[in-house]
Formats: sequence, C-alpha cells, structure tokens
Amino acid sequence: MIITIDGPAGSGKSTVARKLAARLRIPYLDTGAMYRVITLAAINAGANFEDEAELLDVAQKADYRLDLGPTHIRVTLGDHDVTEALRSMRVNTHTRFIAGAPKIRELLVNRQREIGRELGSMVTEGRDQGSVAFPDADAKFYIDADIRQRARRRYHELVADGEEVDEETVLQNVVERDRTDRERAVAPLRRPDDAVSIDTSHLGVTDVIAIMLWHLHSRGLIAQIPADDQ
Ligand code: C5P
Repeated sequence: MIITIDGPAGSGKSTVARKLAARLRIPYLDTGAMYRVITLAAINAGANFEDEAELLDVAQKADYRLDLGPTHIRVTLGDHDVTEALRSMRVNTHTRFIAGAPKIRELLVNRQREIGRELGSMVTEGRDQGSVAFPDADAKFYIDADIRQRARRRYHELVADGEEVDEETVLQNVVERDRTDRERAVAPLRRPDDAVSIDTSHLGVTDVIAIMLWHLHSRGLIAQIPADDQ
C-alpha cells in the first residue's frame, strides 16, 4: 500500500507522515530529504547553483544513503550522517535550484519509485508524490496550514536545532519556497484532484492522524484502526 502526503513547507507533513507510518508499522519516505541531500552535496562540492549540468553531475555522483524505518529516517552522505545538517537555513535557501532542475527530478522520482517497489508499502511525503511520482497511490492526502503558522513551526524547529535565525527571515524563506514550489515549470506543488485535503492550522498531530486512519479504514484499506501504543 502506497500512501502519499503532499503539501507546502511547514504544513506538518514530515511529522504526520512519520507518525502515520509508525501507526501502520510501515516505512516512511521523506522525499524532501533527497532534494536536501543533493543540495548539501552541491554546496560541499562548491558547485555553481546556476549551472544545471553541473548540479546534475553532482546528483548522479552523490553517494548518499537513506535508512528508512517506521519511526526514523537517517541520511548519510559519504561517511557522514547528515540528517541534522540537511535542515539548515543554508540548505533551505538552495533547494529550489535542485527542485527546479527537470533531470534531477527525474532521477529522484525514479529512485522514489524504486524504493516504493522494494518496500511494497510506505508512506511517502513531498510536493509531487501523489501528482507525479505515484499517480496510482492507494491513498493520497494533501495537507496545508496558514502561512504564519507554517513559518512559526519551521522557526521553532530551526531554533531547536541550534540555528540563530529570526522569525521574519524564516517567514520570508517559507514565502519564497511556496512561490518557487508552486510556480516552477516541472512538477509544481499542487493538490492532486483525488487527494483528501486536511488543513492543519487548528489541528494537532493526533487529530490529523485520526482523520487519516479513519479515511483509510472507511475505504477498506486497513481492516481496523491500529492502536496508538507509543
Ligand atoms: O519538505 P522539505 O521542506 O524538506 O523539502 C525541501 C525542498 O525540496 C522543498 O522546498 C521543495 O522545493 C523540494 N521538494 C520537491 N519535491 C518533493 C520534496 C521536496 O520539490 N517531492
């Protein structure tokens, strides 16, 4: 069973995807981490971010590994665990170059489909999972929230990671990423017609998971609602 969750930055996708996968006891794939690890590899290589051919070369050669489980995802680049480094503002401000490069998207979408085939079942989250990567997914969700709320969530995550940022800068970054995610020529962020929309502005994670599980159950995709034993 493939379940897709798409939505803009800070909508709560990652947390929700991780928790839903844990409840269902299947792995989850954070596809943003793939765009982020290529971004980090390009930064480390001192690549010219305006040069698509050079970025593609970095993406093809990047020696990264995703360790996927129902409660965690760890990313290594070469010999280094870069899971935390991927969330930095430096990476945030450069992902659009990677996300806007059609050949890199093709490479990553193919890898996502390969992972889906290997795992059989997973919750996968990103911007294009229901629209491009897995148009035939068993269930599709699209989650969104008020932009100030999303920026506040990202700000608190960055501060918790020890970054020195101010809320206004994070808001500007989220506004800019929304714009580039929605306006790019390839695989722009959009709600698939057959996705269930959830606005998380006034909902807690538990509520969102309950709505998703109820939906999966009502469609007969799960026999019963699994207990929350965490
Ligand atoms: O979800 P997250 O914020 O980690 O994603 C980082 C960036 O990667 C996004 O701003 C977006 O531009 C890009 N992305 C994408 N398609 C995906 C996942 C992420 O374009 N499926």
